[in-house]
Amino acid sequence: MKETFYITTPIYYPSGRFHIGTAYCTVLTDSIKRYKELKGYDCFMLTGLDEHGQKIQTVAEKNGITPKEHVDNMAKQAKELWNLMDIKYDKFIRTTDDYHIEAVEKIVQKFIDNGDIYKGVYEDWYCMPCENYFTDTQLIDGKCPDCGREVKKMKEESYFFNMKKYQDWLVKFYEENPNFIEPESRKNEIFNNFINPGLEDLCISRSSFDWGIKMPNDPKHVLYVWLDALTNYITALGYMSDDDSLFKKYWPADLHVVGKEIIRFHGIYWPIFLHALGLELPKKIYAHSWIVMKDGKMSKSVGNVIYPETLIERYGLDATKYYLLRLMSFDKDSMFTPEDFVERYNSDLANDLGNLLNRTIGMMNKYFDGIIPTNITINTDFDEQLEVFIKEKINSFERNMDTYHVSNALIDLWSIISRTNKYIDETSPWILVKEDTEKLKSVMFHLAETLRKIAILLKPFMYNTSISILNQLNIDEEGTWESLLSSNIINENTKVIEKGEPLFVRLDKDEEIEYIKNKMKNN
Ligand code: MSP
Repeated sequence: MKETFYITTPIYYPSGRFHIGTAYCTVLTDSIKRYKELKGYDCFMLTGLDEHGQKIQTVAEKNGITPKEHVDNMAKQAKELWNLMDIKYDKFIRTTDDYHIEAVEKIVQKFIDNGDIYKGVYEDWYCMPCENYFTDTQLIDGKCPDCGREVKKMKEESYFFNMKKYQDWLVKFYEENPNFIEPESRKNEIFNNFINPGLEDLCISRSSFDWGIKMPNDPKHVLYVWLDALTNYITALGYMSDDDSLFKKYWPADLHVVGKEIIRFHGIYWPIFLHALGLELPKKIYAHSWIVMKDGKMSKSVGNVIYPETLIERYGLDATKYYLLRLMSFDKDSMFTPEDFVERYNSDLANDLGNLLNRTIGMMNKYFDGIIPTNITINTDFDEQLEVFIKEKINSFERNMDTYHVSNALIDLWSIISRTNKYIDETSPWILVKEDTEKLKSVMFHLAETLRKIAILLKPFMYNTSISILNQLNIDEEGTWESLLSSNIINENTKVIEKGEPLFVRLDKDEEIEYIKNKMKNN
């Protein structure tokens, strides 16, 4: 039986259109899932929407529709976007789904029965855009510490979850599982800010609005949206339902991919909720950083928002995905600029990758009527160096992907592409054709073989490009990880396409930078 791999994205607040920052998280998750599939895992990817809470109610009221109408519209939009971006999710959960609501009610009842919940009075500062509550000391200059916006004083009778009871357990858990959160800096943040000073009990109900799941014992109160939302990772698998076969098969999750600003919820409350339910904990939480703009955060009022559709329509899906995944470092915010986008497109995609395929197809046709030479008898002085280099880089790619350093894995892959371009210059096929056709055969075989490997390595990120490379080489194979490790896949008499389509057409730098800038201003 195949080993399972359960991976999740955060579920999004459907309060506005998704920009490239919000799309990044899902593209990242999708690429990790596809990599794991390539490695032979039985994968399950969950995404969806976090549809309750005051923010959603307020946005809907502003638009003159009911919250349910609003979230229905947004769910349609989200699914259309993931479809456009070819995201291979297995389930799309909406927290307004009946099965989720029923399961959450049972979960809360279980907490009540366990004595984890008590009634008290809640008084704090509330940031509506973040759906988050802060104490006096957490505010920065009297504003929300996460987004810098105005906060509102709240005082109401509420239910609390007894977090303090689990403090010692949580500290011990982290001692025993030091790599539970990556990168480490994010773990340190929650230790310094929340765990070391001593956990506060968490207010888990609200009575000042009603768009949420009702407390089973007191329906005047609705559940705090984070308790409702976090449980999606298990309710989506049928936990607490009549059919929990998916839960039995896939839980515990192998990886929760989340943004850095929601690590507190995933690194403190989620483990405690699970422990209180007597469930196993996920294996890892990866808190990625943010895509930022020159003038800070993406915001409509600043006029610097860029939507994935804008880039996809003009530059294609694969270029957009490549850019996002290559841009983001593992643990630091990374800046999107139109200049960088166009530069990378031209250098990495049109020049390095596009030219490698183009030159190979051209030479194969010119020198061997398009037939990829197979039975190689003589090697050039450069073949072994190339082979060793590729082997090392594939190992490094694998290590990086296994530890979710996706941008670094792409750097490994592109170093294979650059090295292979250099190999063409080193071996100079245009000279070999006059002097040593046996050696030329070896060069052309190595080029086709390396491009085949490149196509397989591209599969998790740029699926269409991967298929296009294999089609142009006329190599018919499934492209599994195993076939990557072999060098005897290409059949005799394989004939490449006569004239290949360029994978990526070089962009006019100034024109395209202007185009993207205009789109950002007018969004
Ligand atoms: N609803 C919660 C998640 C609940 S999970 C149980 C939420 N939703 S969100 O819509 O506000 O954010 C969704 C994700 O988008 C977060 O992980 C957040 O970090 C990510 N991003 C939002 N803007 C981003 C960037 N500019 N860059 C990268 N990711 C960003 O939080």
